[in-house]
Amino acid sequence: MKKRITIVPGDGIGKEVTTCGKNVLDHIAQAFGHEFEYDYASIGHEAIEATGEALPEESLATMRKADAILFGAVGHPKYDNDPTLKVRPEQGLLKMRKELGLYANLRPIKLFDELLGASSIKPEVLRGADILFFRELTGDVYFGERGRKDDGNTAYDTMIYHRYEVERIAHKAFKAAQTRRKKVTSVDKANVLESSRLWRAVVQEVAAEYPDVEVEHMFVDAAAMKLIQNPRSFDVVVTGNLFGDILTDEASQIAGSMGMLASASVGDSVGLYEPIHGSAHDITGKGLANPLASILSAALLLDISFGLKEESECVIRAVAQALKDGYRTRDIADKDTPSDKILGTEAMGNQICKNIRMLAAVDSE
Ligand code: IPM
Ligand code: MN
Repeated sequence: MKKRITIVPGDGIGKEVTTCGKNVLDHIAQAFGHEFEYDYASIGHEAIEATGEALPEESLATMRKADAILFGAVGHPKYDNDPTLKVRPEQGLLKMRKELGLYANLRPIKLFDELLGASSIKPEVLRGADILFFRELTGDVYFGERGRKDDGNTAYDTMIYHRYEVERIAHKAFKAAQTRRKKVTSVDKANVLESSRLWRAVVQEVAAEYPDVEVEHMFVDAAAMKLIQNPRSFDVVVTGNLFGDILTDEASQIAGSMGMLASASVGDSVGLYEPIHGSAHDITGKGLANPLASILSAALLLDISFGLKEESECVIRAVAQALKDGYRTRDIADKDTPSDKILGTEAMGNQICKNIRMLAAVDSE
């Protein structure tokens, strides 16, 4: 198979982890006889410094030509500490999602057994948890009208949803549930918000088309509690942009660490794959970042955009093997991890590539 992939490293640890994700794609291409060609595109703080824009037109044009996109992270502390700056790295990410029509963000929360001890949640609560989040990605308060009143002392952001936006993500969630444990939990705040009441009504309508799937509606505050109390009670969760942003950071603790969570953003055209973690400037350049979220994002890319199930599975097995062999990055290590098993970003990436070579050789025998 011949494919073109755009690599968008972005800021902070985005660069380090995306290098590992790309290496994994190269190893898969080599082991399974595919040809992947790469382009690079800039975004975020880096792009602002170079061009004044958080997502230059040239980057978008490159992405539009791609068969899939592997993205790192955006952000820089300079902007976090100065809310007056007009051009901000995150605008690049939001524009990229909107321009490419990436309205569905899939965030699978699955715990590798080896990491049961890495979470602050009790192992008996976690064991067997397997949740697939569908976070709506191009609507909500992220894209509604916002502004500041003339006196500067009043500000507003509008939470807004259109019927078609809820319909299309709900269909994706129900279809996915049909291939899983056949349950969808729709999360909203319909006891307070009008946009949530529309959301709930539309999800109820869509649900009627999937009689084989059980549907449950939950308020976001209750969902936040239930996720930690009984994560196994969830199968597919579908929710709006803001609630999905918050709940998936929370749910990352079910997978042991934020450094483990991959995501896929899909919609109208090309698919985009990225870790759910941010640019983490506090550890940038120190070789401490966990590359597994980017590597698992590459696995999602192979599966969802290219339909390469066996190759995707090989990446996941390579990760599981590294964990089974006791290797950890610092974020997923515990007090029992021997120091020689604690790997830096590059070493963990290399370990996964080594496992891919080994697994592919064994499978072809
Ligand atoms: C995410 C991030 C982004 C979001 C930020 C960086 C704008 O937190 O992808 O979850 O809020 O969507
Ligand atoms: Mn987030």
